[in-house]
Amino acid sequence: MHNNLEKIILNEEQIAAKVKEAAAWLDNKFKDAQYTPIAICVLKGSVFFFCDVTRAMQTPVHLDFMRVSSYGNSSKSSGMPHIIMDLSYSVQDRDVILIEDIVDSGYTLSKMKELMLGRGAKSFTVVTLLNKPSRRKLPVKADFSCFEVANEFVVGYGLDYAEQYRNLPYIGVLKREIYETDK
Ligand code: PRP
Repeated sequence: MHNNLEKIILNEEQIAAKVKEAAAWLDNKFKDAQYTPIAICVLKGSVFFFCDVTRAMQTPVHLDFMRVSSYGNSSKSSGMPHIIMDLSYSVQDRDVILIEDIVDSGYTLSKMKELMLGRGAKSFTVVTLLNKPSRRKLPVKADFSCFEVANEFVVGYGLDYAEQYRNLPYIGVLKREIYETDK
């Protein structure tokens, strides 16, 4: 375990098992889709989850990438997610699958939903690795959530604190003293 972590809450095996479940859920949902759905990776946090879920799916999907950020180097959401990098393709009349690492305040999910439906997406489905309902500021929820987490600072498997810890293969809780100066 990394020295700056208090504990590991989800190990590689637990994550891999839920990735399979999420992929199977998506396969079932889109098995009769008329057109190939677009899976959207919300960079950077969802990068590993996105790759693992889409590779575990049997249903063909197109892949696209977007970078939305509202945290910067802070542990608190600015409440105003902004687009740093937009999609390559139009989502008009397409089934959009948003693949997120975490739904926390809900600002990012809310913004993405408004944006995709505003651009004419036929449907909008959200799969998230983590759900942190205790921090929700907007009444939004994912269609499929792999794990519910408590109000702790979680990092690893894509999730960062000030860009660190993203490449840990597991998810752990960051020691409070690492981020407390930012509270
Ligand atoms: C994180 C995470 C989600 C979003 C969820 O992104 O990847 O996209 O916050 O939080 P919310 O529900 O409070 O909006 P962040 O802005 O930290 O960018 P990153 O993915 O590049 O780390």
